[in-house]
Amino acid sequence: MSVELSTTYLGLKLQNPLVVAACPLTLQVEWLERLEQAGAGAAVLASLFAEQIEHEEAELQAASEYGSDFYAEHSNWYPDQGEYRSGPAMYLDHIAAAKKAVSMPIIASLNGTSTGGWVKYAKMMQEAGADALELNIYFIAADIEASAADVEKRYTDLVAAVKESLSIPLAVKVGPHFSSPGNMCLKLAEAGADGLVLFNRFLQPDIDLDALETSPHLELSSPAEMLLPLRWAAILRGRVSASLAVTSGVHDGQGLAKVLLAGADVAQVASTIYLNGFDHVGRMIRDLTAWMVEKGYDSVEQLRGSMSQQNCPQPAAFERGNYMKVLTKFTGKPV
Ligand SMILES: Cc1cc2nc3c(=O)[nH]c(=O)nc-3n(C[C@H](O)[C@H](O)[C@H](O)COP(=O)(O)O)c2cc1C
Repeated sequence: MSVELSTTYLGLKLQNPLVVAACPLTLQVEWLERLEQAGAGAAVLASLFAEQIEHEEAELQAASEYGSDFYAEHSNWYPDQGEYRSGPAMYLDHIAAAKKAVSMPIIASLNGTSTGGWVKYAKMMQEAGADALELNIYFIAADIEASAADVEKRYTDLVAAVKESLSIPLAVKVGPHFSSPGNMCLKLAEAGADGLVLFNRFLQPDIDLDALETSPHLELSSPAEMLLPLRWAAILRGRVSASLAVTSGVHDGQGLAKVLLAGADVAQVASTIYLNGFDHVGRMIRDLTAWMVEKGYDSVEQLRGSMSQQNCPQPAAFERGNYMKVLTKFTGKPV
């Protein structure tokens, strides 16, 4: 028995619901080819950061002003802007190269926290050939005077500004730290998000005890992290018009099956490829297929959302249900 794995995400037709998440694995054309050969349905390129764009533009500006004020006769000493090989320019080139090399959809990624001059790069990414854009809003509300409403407005203003410049679909990747994550997702969809990527894994700073400095810290995910976005995909399925992607902790075919049952259109994976290699992509797809055959599902379409909050037999489980029972039944003892 064969099963139909194709799915639609952001209005794009994907041959299966496994998307390679934004990470450096997608920054080399050769690796993109290997990921496609292994069976990936689409890939999100690692992000271009607002800071990278602003830094490059500030340097160009400073170079041009310095040259013309003080060395008018040498005004050609700084690089020609058209030829300047900056980070952003390389990123745009990579989009074009990726589109030539693989046939799966390529989603570019922009990472920023507020509207600014860099937003115009969304359009450039579209012009470079990206099939869609993912906007990663990585904002830490460290200003404790800022209210939740201020912070939420910052998000929706940014989404509206990026959406305005695009004709390709826009996905928005956010963290889970809102008082009402579901309502925030509704607002993002209203502001123009065609898809929601649940959730950003915020990097937490650590403290180096020897150097007495803060040290940035990136850890690969563990499968338990999947349960938070799984819950929210289940709650949002059928209630928000945007496509849903789950990212964080999807490590195997079983994880893939679970997030689809909850209501995600796709899973975005990174850590498991770092841990298990490119071929793990194919293994995940094969394991999903085998499970679907065993359970009698004909297609991803048929299984998607069948355990969402609206469809599952115990909708309360996605809220507070069973919370007390689980805690009081816990019998673990310290070693
Ligand atoms: C090495 C590495 C680099 C990443 N870089 C980005 C990035 O540039 N932009 C982004 O939106 N997410 C980035 N992520 C987050 C991933 O896209 C993904 O959402 C996250 O790792 C959760 O998925 P996972 O559990 O499968 O790793 C990165 C993750 C890793 C491991």
